[in-house]
Amino acid sequence: MTDRPVRHFLQIPDFSRDELLQTLDLAARMKSGAYTDRPLDGKTLAMIFTKSSTRTRVSFEVGTYQLGGHALFLSSRDIQLGRGEPIKDTARVLSRYVDGIMIRTFDQQDLVDLATWGSVPVINGLTDLLHPCQIMADLLTVQENFGQDLSGVKVAWVGDGNNMANSWLNAAYMLGFELRLAYPAGYAPDAEILERARGAANIITTHDPREAVEGADVVNTDVWASMGQEEESAKRAADFQGYCITEEMMETGSGRAIFLHCLPAHRGEEVTEGVIEGARSRVWDEAENRLHVQKAIMAKVMGGA
Ligand code: CP
Ligand code: NVA
Repeated sequence: MTDRPVRHFLQIPDFSRDELLQTLDLAARMKSGAYTDRPLDGKTLAMIFTKSSTRTRVSFEVGTYQLGGHALFLSSRDIQLGRGEPIKDTARVLSRYVDGIMIRTFDQQDLVDLATWGSVPVINGLTDLLHPCQIMADLLTVQENFGQDLSGVKVAWVGDGNNMANSWLNAAYMLGFELRLAYPAGYAPDAEILERARGAANIITTHDPREAVEGADVVNTDVWASMGQEEESAKRAADFQGYCITEEMMETGSGRAIFLHCLPAHRGEEVTEGVIEGARSRVWDEAENRLHVQKAIMAKVMGGA
């Protein structure tokens, strides 16, 4: 045991600007093969999922193994949390067994409660409010294309003001790049997160996707109905008309523009087949980078890197 405070990664601003850049740098070293340490040797990560996942589950599990540790997949269908055992009890019990907890769930407060009541690092694997690990992977992908200094990059977000949009705002807040958000009326990002980012970066909001994309270096979108919003799909499909990223729209971006999507994607809705499979798409690098950034985050909060 040490007296060091427990570090969590519940949102991007949980790390300082320097820590975020160091984490991206460590992730790049891990990706290159230059890093061979095993900071999770003998350690276990509990992975709680109350929503579906392909990338998050597999990349955390593989990443833990590659760092010398072991990951436990805990679906809420199988653990007592799904039968109503309180988060605060789950947090204290799991903390007696494992060295870190990753959770994907609905309510941000459940994540905060897990961190508050537990005594091991907690990592946000997506909530309704935020998806910080995904944005770290996106930032690494942007660095791979445009260099390590992110401050001059223009990022466009086109779509719902959802967990992804909120986390892009948090990234702009910490790193100071220009972020243009286009969303339909009624689908704004979280007001508090938006205002905080406006105080630190050039944040442009519009209801016109073309205005956001014009001259942008990074064009980014997501599904119109997130997990848990499935019954709103028809209304959202109507409300998001005009929000599909097309090849023609991509050509209005900067000459070096790339396309990002956290996946899973709905081709023909928020993006065309031509864009996601096209030369500007970096979605497979982006998905791979989940593995590298999460290893770096785990090395930092669980492995003392
Ligand atoms: N992007 C992402 O988080 O994917 P999964 O839902 O498959 O984990
Ligand atoms: N906004 C999407 C992201 C999925 C990775 C959702 O929450 O379902």
